[in-house]
Amino acid sequence: MAQQPQIKYLKDYSAPAFLIDRVDLKFDIQDDITRVQSRLVVNRNDKAAASRELVLSGSARLTSLTLDGERLAAGRYRLEDETLVVNEVPDSFILEVETELAPAANTSLMGLYASNGNLFTQCEPEGFRKITYYLDRPDVMARFTTTIIADRQKYPILLSNGNKVGEGLSDKKRHWVKWVDPYRKPSYLFAMVAGRLSALKDRFVTMRGRDVALEIWTEPADLDKARHAMESLKRAMAWDEHRFGLEYDLDIYMIVAVGDFNMGAMENKGLNVFNTKYVLARQDTATDTDFEGVERVIGHEYFHNWTGNRVTCRDWFQLSLKEGLTVFRDQEFSSDMTSAAVKRIEDVKGLRAMQFPEDAGPTAHPIRPDSYIEMNNFYTMTVYEKGAEVVRMYQTLLGRDGFRKGLDLYFRRHDGHAVTCDDFRAAMADASGVDLDQFALWYSQAGTPRLDVVGDYDAEAREYRLTVRQSCPATPGQDVKLPFHIPLALGLVGRDGRDVPLTLAGELEAGAGTRVLDVKAAEQTFTFVDIESEPVPSLLRGFSAPVELFFDWSDEALTFLMAHDSDSFARWEAGQTFARRLFLRLIGDAEQGRELALPQGFVAALHAILKDHAADPAFKSLMLALPGEAEILEMVTVADPALIHRVREFVLAQLALQLRAEWREAYDLNLTREYRPQDAGRRALKNHALAMLCRLADAWPLETAREQCMKADNMTDQLGALLALRDRDGEERSDCLDAFSERWAGDALVMDKYFSLLASSQIPCTLEHVKSALSHPAFSLKNPNKARALLGAFARNMPHFHAADGSGYHFLADQVLALDAINPQVASRVVQAFNRWKKLEPGRQALMKAELERLAAAELSRDVYEIVSKNLE
Ligand code: TRP
Ligand code: ZN
Repeated sequence: MAQQPQIKYLKDYSAPAFLIDRVDLKFDIQDDITRVQSRLVVNRNDKAAASRELVLSGSARLTSLTLDGERLAAGRYRLEDETLVVNEVPDSFILEVETELAPAANTSLMGLYASNGNLFTQCEPEGFRKITYYLDRPDVMARFTTTIIADRQKYPILLSNGNKVGEGLSDKKRHWVKWVDPYRKPSYLFAMVAGRLSALKDRFVTMRGRDVALEIWTEPADLDKARHAMESLKRAMAWDEHRFGLEYDLDIYMIVAVGDFNMGAMENKGLNVFNTKYVLARQDTATDTDFEGVERVIGHEYFHNWTGNRVTCRDWFQLSLKEGLTVFRDQEFSSDMTSAAVKRIEDVKGLRAMQFPEDAGPTAHPIRPDSYIEMNNFYTMTVYEKGAEVVRMYQTLLGRDGFRKGLDLYFRRHDGHAVTCDDFRAAMADASGVDLDQFALWYSQAGTPRLDVVGDYDAEAREYRLTVRQSCPATPGQDVKLPFHIPLALGLVGRDGRDVPLTLAGELEAGAGTRVLDVKAAEQTFTFVDIESEPVPSLLRGFSAPVELFFDWSDEALTFLMAHDSDSFARWEAGQTFARRLFLRLIGDAEQGRELALPQGFVAALHAILKDHAADPAFKSLMLALPGEAEILEMVTVADPALIHRVREFVLAQLALQLRAEWREAYDLNLTREYRPQDAGRRALKNHALAMLCRLADAWPLETAREQCMKADNMTDQLGALLALRDRDGEERSDCLDAFSERWAGDALVMDKYFSLLASSQIPCTLEHVKSALSHPAFSLKNPNKARALLGAFARNMPHFHAADGSGYHFLADQVLALDAINPQVASRVVQAFNRWKKLEPGRQALMKAELERLAAAELSRDVYEIVSKNLE
């Protein structure tokens, strides 16, 4: 990095000196270049400090500039790094800007780029400035029109935001289309698509009877995989009306799928652009998890139309205003479409595996960051997933109705505006009358709070006292934290397994079985009265706050909660607590060189779950799954990845062996005659059982997996069998992998699964396999899905990424450098595999640090520079 990149601060926010009323864009698409004409109607902003200079952001090649029709002489403007400054501008004027772009050469996939011969845009957060010079900030909201002119053969389909108002031929070979978006929007929501595409079309009638045309555009060969996305879209539209009273507001809603895309999808007004991964799904090519992912992301982008587009962010520090809220909404949607218990557990698992480590590492930041170098680096688990937990806490504190009232007020106050997280909190507080001042700390303090809870039963007074102590570890730039306002949902479970009615001292009437306590101080004691016998506390029900909770349950108490807790999240959590404790004990034993042994109590608890034939199989499969390696790594003070891996594998092998008959029974009982989508839970449990059985040296499971893989009529079972064979070096594995890669060579999304399988395997020569995958004909580092599939999976591969000789680290750093030259945004995700280096034992710590230093010495993008420098600070 030649120059130290500039840091942007939240505290430096000031309103824009100028506003843009209208934007008329014209895209003239030629063979290699695209010319963009932009006509801006600009007015001075009387709510801002007066300025005579108009400062626009941009980096495209500028070919013409006129003000009120006059070409500007060289002295009237200057082009500096990524800005265009126009001097002495009047109060109101028209600025015409012409730029020239080379989309086929744009590998960053931001701005205008080509993918498989078609053209797409991606503007959030700051991609519009790669297209033209503009006030590229979300608090400048303008009315857009877009005209696109292109060759009819090469680009028969020309799309942009809003409604199509005209089209025609400009000459024999070329045609044009004009789109008008009636809603004001910031530039980050602009989109344009041109190419050879086919559409699946449908309609939706809104609650007020408005007829909306729905279109999902894909490459022609993929059209038969868009049905599930369309059904998901209609479900999302109906759900948002029903749950939040929110209706769609244009006559047309378009989704376009593209194979080269930096993230999941993008909510451009009326024209969402999606990663193919979240649109295309067919029984034989997509797993049950993929189907759920499509529904979730389709919902997410649709929900943005209100939470993000109609009400948007004042500045990018407020990103969680739209993302946290929209993730919360998509979680609630998925929860209503499937099983609320399973969905909640899966979300918490994801949070623990990915957000907690972020909050404990060098890139930790509050959900509303104070500063950034590259905004693309802040589309994080913290802003999205912890942000969603913060929104969920409002609902927990105010109740569903209170939350709905707050949201209604938020829209009444801010529709059509660009606002802040404080505006959202104020709407919640004002609508409910609840004091949410202290709650603001969730937006400004990073780190995962910790609750240490102690329970004390007084038989004589028939009282149960809970003392709650909260703390929060230091994070970069924040040494001392103030106490948070934490909603702590809990129950007290009696000997009979039922919830005791909870009455706090001083209350007149007996309360409910689950109550939400307001934890606000560093230490607080809550006294429950009329408790007949010593109960078992069930704490943090439903995961009511994104915290780590510690309580000294006995093994018996945990087994009891696993079997009896009325809250299904807490039942699962009791099992996880049991397992976490067991891992800590076994890691200690392994470090001391003691022989490892599995306590019978643990085996018995899992045995009971396997034998519970009344339970939902999806929930059962989650109850039977152990905390992952990444989660265990966070639990220990000094981590030895090889040891963590060995101990976890030991536990799994023992469970396979000691419960062999029960796993076999679970496999047999959950076989299904024919494929039905609603049997996803049974498939999950069956494949879980198969993977456990394949850990044994028996011939039956390996042969069964081979057969399942070869004969499956759906991707869940095919991939399930491959996962069961992934780490079992042998003929079954290689035969299945070969057949799989041959069968699916032409399907990009299925080949992603193949590359992930190679990179996550524990067999000895995995690094060699990963290296040769780089030159596989179906692989390309330029395709983000491919890069993530191979490099992302490898970085999560404990034994191989963390190989003691540093070969895994060295390989990954090489790939980061190669990728950074192509696509900084994706490279910056991959390099974060180094984030936890300080947690490792000294040998690996030194090896990782050396790779980070090697990276720091290279020429880096702003994106990767920000991550590497935070790691070395
Ligand atoms: N706003 C999008 C979403 O969460 C994600 C997004 C942000 C994005 N920046 C992007 C997608 C860049 C692709 C590329 O729904
Ligand atoms: Zn989003």
